[in-house]
Amino acid sequence: MSTEPKPAFSPGLAGVIAGETEICWVDPDAGLMYRGYDIHEMADKASFEEVAYLLLNGQLPTMGELQRFRMEIAAARPLPKEVLNMLRLLPKKTHPMDMLRTGVSMLAPFDPDLNDNSHDANIRKATRLIAQVSTLIMDGYRISLGLDPLSEHPDLTVAGNLFYKLNGEVPQDWKVRMMDTILILYADHEFNASTFAARVTASTLADMYAAVTSACGTLKGPLHGGANEESMKMLDDIGTSDRAEKWMMDALAKKAKIMGFGHRVYKKGDSRVPIMREIARDLGKRVGKEDWVPICETLEATMEREKHLCANVDLYAAPVFTMLEFPPALNTPIFAASRVAGWCAHVVEQHDHNRLIRPRSLYTGPEMRPYKGVSPNGAKK
Ligand code: ACO
Repeated sequence: MSTEPKPAFSPGLAGVIAGETEICWVDPDAGLMYRGYDIHEMADKASFEEVAYLLLNGQLPTMGELQRFRMEIAAARPLPKEVLNMLRLLPKKTHPMDMLRTGVSMLAPFDPDLNDNSHDANIRKATRLIAQVSTLIMDGYRISLGLDPLSEHPDLTVAGNLFYKLNGEVPQDWKVRMMDTILILYADHEFNASTFAARVTASTLADMYAAVTSACGTLKGPLHGGANEESMKMLDDIGTSDRAEKWMMDALAKKAKIMGFGHRVYKKGDSRVPIMREIARDLGKRVGKEDWVPICETLEATMEREKHLCANVDLYAAPVFTMLEFPPALNTPIFAASRVAGWCAHVVEQHDHNRLIRPRSLYTGPEMRPYKGVSPNGAKK
């Protein structure tokens, strides 16, 4: 028998400190900080590019650095034609998250810095990935509809370009500002599942594209980023606020998992929800769809009363994306267009201070027993 002492075990790694980071702090009491800056202040005053620069470099950019960063992102947006052709080969019904994951993987060999994990090379790759993840999403989506991708609009920011690449219209300033805030809210969240997947991959000294490919696959799941697409299906199914309480009671009676509720870390509310709720309210007034927020609020009150569980950011993100006229299948990819900044910052940090991430498992299988297999394998008796 093994003499190994029985290690502590926490199912799902709940509460486990799996590493150190200077990038982001999630406060269980409804707070969130990017490199020492309060998310509420950043959401109000910063741009997404400024936040992405901060996450990657550790400090806010000067005006000159920000302009250069914006130009580098704009210049890196177009995809290699081979990647565009690959997107055309995928079945039309391919989910945009699968297109994104496949696209990130295919972009790898086109990057001249692919196998250089030095700090500077990783920052260069991160800039290209921040640019090209958005392009993969929007070009892939148009290709899946049988349409040609639109050419780049280099004067637009990441937020503005997401609208432009959908239908070729330059968005109004208020829409760009709103999307900027949404992207800031989604940009990082310490050791969430997709970021942790990226760090595990990077910790083997695999490259940044391998890490971001792992992250894209992990984000897709409905318990993580996929929840913002599932939440929209739920809200559509509910339809009106007078149906919300009964809908929730029926779902809870069936022991269903309600999308957009619960969180592993937050116990007193998700720090991002009040900001996303206000965006939803403002947007509802602007576009004349004011029932989404009351539906969500009724669900929130019912869930609080029945299970003491709080809404997470994905509950309100769902109607926000719908009111901004993005199809629900793009909800999770737009989350990725933002979170790629956080993923890359974590890969840079992992490579700069690397130690292989390799936990143990608790063996619960049979005791050691004699082998009585029947297949002859050529070994001597
Ligand atoms: N609906 C119904 N019950 C829930 C929900 C929910 N959304 N979330 C948690 N619970 C219940 C669980 O059933 C469990 O109840 P029990 O103790 O009676 O068995 C209790 O609350 C604790 O839940 P856990 O599953 O242990 O919480 P965990 O930390 O493992 O999971 C998670 C967190 C995955 C986010 C979970 O709350 C969930 O599945 N939520 C729905 C999906 C979702 O919205 N994901 C987005 C997360 S935020 C983001 O990724 C940006």
